[in-house]
Amino acid sequence: MTSDAIRFLMCAPDHYDVDYVINPWMEGNVHKSSRERAVEQWQGLYHLIKEHAVVDLVKPEIGVPDMVFTANAGLLLDNTVVLSRFYHKERQGEEPYFQAWFEQNGFTVQTLPKDLPFEGAGDALLDREGRWLWAGYGFRSELDSHPYLAKWLDIEVLSLRLMDERFYHLDTCFCPLLDGYLLYYPPAFDAYSNRLIELRVPEQKRIAVAEVDAANFACNAVNINQIIIMNQASAELKQRLGAAGFKVLETPLTEFLKAGGAAKCLTLRTTEPIQPLHSAAATVESRTIQMAGHLLDSGLINRALDIITEGGGSFQVLNFSLGEQKQSTSNAEIRVTAPSHSVMEEIMVQLIDLGAMPRPQEVCDNPLAEVLQDGVAPDDFYVTTIYPTEVRVNCEWVLVQNQRMDGAIVVAQTPNGATAECRLLRDLKQGEKIIVGVEGIRTVRKTESRDLRTADKEFSFMGSGVSSERRVELLVEQIAWDLRQIRDRGGKVVVVGGPVVIHTGGADHLSQLIRDGYVQALLGGNAIAVHDIEQSMMGTSLGMDMKRGVSVRGGHRHHLKAINSVRRVGSIAAAVEQKLISSGIFYECVKHHIPFSLAGSIRDDGPLPDTKMDLLEAQADYARLIEGADMILMLSSMLHSIGVGNMTPAGVKMVCVDINPAVVTKLSDRGSVESVGIVTDVGLFLSLLMQQLSKLTSAYRLAQTV
Ligand code: ARG
Repeated sequence: MTSDAIRFLMCAPDHYDVDYVINPWMEGNVHKSSRERAVEQWQGLYHLIKEHAVVDLVKPEIGVPDMVFTANAGLLLDNTVVLSRFYHKERQGEEPYFQAWFEQNGFTVQTLPKDLPFEGAGDALLDREGRWLWAGYGFRSELDSHPYLAKWLDIEVLSLRLMDERFYHLDTCFCPLLDGYLLYYPPAFDAYSNRLIELRVPEQKRIAVAEVDAANFACNAVNINQIIIMNQASAELKQRLGAAGFKVLETPLTEFLKAGGAAKCLTLRTTEPIQPLHSAAATVESRTIQMAGHLLDSGLINRALDIITEGGGSFQVLNFSLGEQKQSTSNAEIRVTAPSHSVMEEIMVQLIDLGAMPRPQEVCDNPLAEVLQDGVAPDDFYVTTIYPTEVRVNCEWVLVQNQRMDGAIVVAQTPNGATAECRLLRDLKQGEKIIVGVEGIRTVRKTESRDLRTADKEFSFMGSGVSSERRVELLVEQIAWDLRQIRDRGGKVVVVGGPVVIHTGGADHLSQLIRDGYVQALLGGNAIAVHDIEQSMMGTSLGMDMKRGVSVRGGHRHHLKAINSVRRVGSIAAAVEQKLISSGIFYECVKHHIPFSLAGSIRDDGPLPDTKMDLLEAQADYARLIEGADMILMLSSMLHSIGVGNMTPAGVKMVCVDINPAVVTKLSDRGSVESVGIVTDVGLFLSLLMQQLSKLTSAYRLAQTV
């Protein structure tokens, strides 16, 4: 017999019953299984296995009914066994019995630190060629246990994350077979794990089962050479396994399904010789991060832990000191573990956005890579956000200059120390050093004070909310107040506008706003200028009479005539000087020396001589004009507003007004507390704003005369 070297450990069901509920299969089944039928089914399995291997028995004990599931005793390779540490207290009583059996049978027993759950061969399965170990986590076993397995068993560990609580142990949905085949149920795993499986197991060797088979525990199978023993398989599955050279032997185990186990769970293969082809390695990576702030009442800590688990990692909170007073902040240290480097990086990027940082004593320099080609960053470059960012260089935090989103960070050493600067890809130069990875990066977030956070949201500028109707008036009141403050202290307001400002009758209001000194720069496309000038010259906007609201005969030509007149004299400023234009938004800009920039697009008529058709030049011009802005008013221009949003760092108040809620949501959803969105007609908004501003002005006057 070729298989006589193979041995299994089993435990008779003398005391088996469903006594408690620790997995979904047990729900509704407490004391519903028949001991008699269980014994009969167990015997069936026992005899079947004995035809192909040797079976050893461990004595069943009272009070630990799940001891029949010997797969959970531990994980063994060669002479070493990693003893299980059960997640549930209901099963922890089994540990000493299994430990005694292993010791009596000559195994070296390794025990994991307390509070680090790991459920043995139920959650860790050797590749049948011995190349690596597949290890599950997510329900019972902790990801942090995997590096211990790699160390003690000297084998590469591939961590798989379980997602479906019905398949809470790896062996309920995953079964490596002889010759590198794999029987498994893909939906039980997260996307990353499925990718990992597909990388290691070629397609022709992957036998994915349908949900019915999975639910009948077809993956919970015992593979001995060419035979596969399981509870039940569909005809289709038997046929596919047959085609791969396997023979399926079914043996009913329905009484054990009531406890969430079947053939594989009831056995532990105790002969797992080391095979020549293997190398120790665990791809599992850990890092410790620190967070500070109003961690609890702002929900920051919850968000951080969600990011870790949803991203496929696991965590351990090492320290947490709670701020005692309402205003005092809390501190936390969290150990993050991820199954691989790339998963770790994805999680870290998100944690950094939340304000997490590495322990400074652990990271002296964030890794750098060199630009090898002008305008192209090295792979893995860190993509910047709108938040002020600092990077570790020479064991110090260096603040990144020119912060904006979607850039790379260039680090340079100068005689006065290291510098870091945010740079667009197209501006990168060969030889420059770029931040790659996320080891030594942090974003600096303002800790919002508790009062601001809980302040009456209805009237608050904060809280990136999108509002409509009822709140509009209150918000406009607040914006008017802010505009007034900014003007009085010599601050900077930038307006970004679309042609809708003109079509909705907002031109007069915006002109007035400029006249009154509330606007320090104006950005837009060709269209807002064309329609403003058309209105000034001909009283129409896209051919509509703006006073009477009707279209004018031949009006559709008006805007081209306006363009043509400006082109003749060379610029908008020249047209104002020559009195071709004597009112309107751009007239006011020229008269009051307010800089403006017009960025071209594919749909532009003309264009006006001022419109920049070189978009890189236009982007640079926009960036120059928004520098130092305190507030940006975005009035009905999706294109130009998003463009501006992309180059604006956090901390600048952004007000986005658009009749289309989608535009408003997109812009106020940058996660920056300073943004506010208003869904309304822009003409109406400007008219309300002017009313509020004049109310404020009369209030000031009144205050002065009293
Ligand atoms: N009732 C047991 C538990 O929930 C079933 C164990 C099944 N064993 C296994 N290797 N999947 O722990």
